[in-house]
Amino acid sequence: MKAIQVGVMGLGTVGGGVFEVLRRNQEEIRRRAGRGIEVTMVSRRDVAKARALVGDAAQVVADPRAIIANPEIDIVVELIGGYDLARELVLEAIAAGKHVVTANKALLAVHGTEIFEAARAKGVMVAFEAAVAGGIPIIKALREGLTANRIQWLAGIINGTTNFILSEMRDKGLDFDVVLKEAQRLGYAEADPTFDIEGVDAAHKATIMSAIAFGIPVQFDKAYIEGITKLGAADIRYAEQLGYRIKLLGVSKRRDSGIELRVHPTLVPSKRLIANVEGAMNAVVVQGDAVGSTLYYGKGAGSEPTASAVIADLVDVTRLHTADPQNRVPHLAFQPDAMSPLPILPMDEVITSYYLRLRVADQAGVLAKVTGILAAANISIDAVLQREADEVCAEGGEPQTDVIILTHDTREGTMNAALAQMQALPTVLAPITRIRKEELN
Ligand code: NDP
Ligand code: HSE
Repeated sequence: MKAIQVGVMGLGTVGGGVFEVLRRNQEEIRRRAGRGIEVTMVSRRDVAKARALVGDAAQVVADPRAIIANPEIDIVVELIGGYDLARELVLEAIAAGKHVVTANKALLAVHGTEIFEAARAKGVMVAFEAAVAGGIPIIKALREGLTANRIQWLAGIINGTTNFILSEMRDKGLDFDVVLKEAQRLGYAEADPTFDIEGVDAAHKATIMSAIAFGIPVQFDKAYIEGITKLGAADIRYAEQLGYRIKLLGVSKRRDSGIELRVHPTLVPSKRLIANVEGAMNAVVVQGDAVGSTLYYGKGAGSEPTASAVIADLVDVTRLHTADPQNRVPHLAFQPDAMSPLPILPMDEVITSYYLRLRVADQAGVLAKVTGILAAANISIDAVLQREADEVCAEGGEPQTDVIILTHDTREGTMNAALAQMQALPTVLAPITRIRKEELN
């Protein structure tokens, strides 16, 4: 049978990997897909660079729309990134009757509803395994492997750049900026690395996973997002002393009244497998009612790991493109007319536990006032760590100390009110650090 024809729009880190892995493993892939998969057209603004990579094996164009216009192309792969041009190109490809494969989580987290509806109406597939956790087949697992389960929660390290930064800072004592530059050199970071360090990229991925896990529309605008830029070395150290590691987690949980969707630095018990995921590696824990806890681990970024997921989608589309569209796996796992009306909960309604660090005057009764506020708010304390006053002392001033408090679960709104009262105490000398904690058990 004639090979299926693929056009790749964007031949950068991921596009280059797709071309290379397809070329290297073409025979193995053909045996799995039932026919060859050939990249016959690629686009890149810098045409000379693209030619240097693909040689005569594919037609090189500067304009990605030339790929969509080519009637010979069956599948269009979007690897340009970003929101606007990518959205236009994907919608145009769908309108032209092409199946689409994309690694673009930003696009799907924001415009997914429009794109999936356009694809459904046209009877084509939009596949996006590479959009979440790079090479880890987490979309396949959530959408198909766990389909028997009522999923209760998921939590993941889903941004390689920030995990790499946190690991290198902790292990090697390197500065934030130095490690970020290295992540960029290695091709992990987004074109705009603020997306990585401010938690936006992880929120894109958490949004997509929550939609598939709970059968809700993609709602990136409702996600709570906090990155790692304000994280201090002292908190990483104190967390270790208390038996925790700090990770940037994407968390989504089902509650009776709605779905939690949030990305923030999180204390995770050091004994959990996910707490030991280091470097640019990603991992996602999914809790289902039947299967219990499952863990998915692997490379979440980089040229060939991401290409692995893109090509898995190409094989899926090749196998299924002649199937009746009604019998294909729905884009978001649930049938479009059976989506859940559960809302994304406002952050005040989220229930979690907390790490608090307070810089206080080292005087009698200070701790009692702080714990009194927590007790009055019905917030139960799990552990308290107080530093020796002479370890933390303002130069020439009154002795000060850091008090670290771990709490049990409470409503975020309740914690916010208690924090405001604690902050107003004259003996609390600096802004209180609050980091959320997840036991993941
Ligand atoms: P790169 O920046 O390395 O590559 C982007 C490619 O798109 C380049 O070939 C570029 O061409 C081309 N391009 C950019 N703008 C335009 C334009 N206006 N018109 C035509 N072509 C354009 O990005 P990545 O390969 O890293 O990422 C691609 C996608 O994959 C993104 O959505 C990203 O979020 C996602 N992704 C990336 C991962 C990674 O590890 N890098 C992992 C998982 C997903 P030129 O160079 O000539 O400008
Ligand atoms: N910038 C992303 C990361 C790439 O660091 O994880 C993979 O999506």
